[in-house]
Amino acid sequence: MIGRLNHVALVVPDLGQAAEQYRGILGCDVSDELDLPDSGVTTVFVNLPNTKIELLHPFGENSPIAKFLEKNPAGGIHHVCYEVADIIAARDKLIGDGARILGSGEPATGAHGKPVLFLHPKDFSGTLIELEQA
Ligand code: CO
Repeated sequence: MIGRLNHVALVVPDLGQAAEQYRGILGCDVSDELDLPDSGVTTVFVNLPNTKIELLHPFGENSPIAKFLEKNPAGGIHHVCYEVADIIAARDKLIGDGARILGSGEPATGAHGKPVLFLHPKDFSGTLIELEQA
């Protein structure tokens, strides 16, 4: 059902420093910082030949990743994002298989302007999974 790995998201304590490491030391194509107030995050995208790395830092109060950074002050892997062809069909299949969708269950607009859903990490071996309609 799932397709390509769209991105791996890393929460980082210092977005500027992390972006510079990926740009300077690792030699990557790195985007500018982008504030996403509705999502409560600031993002930087690292474009790799076969996927993307999404560097995340809390934006504003009540950021959904603020607690993650409190628990993991050095940063860490936050989620992986897999592509699906039809997010509603994927959601309905997953619910039918007993998986839990976070939030309302309705797709939100993700960082790339496409519909996304998150699956409960306890249902998938402790990893938060984002599904994005490709
Ligand atoms: Co993501």
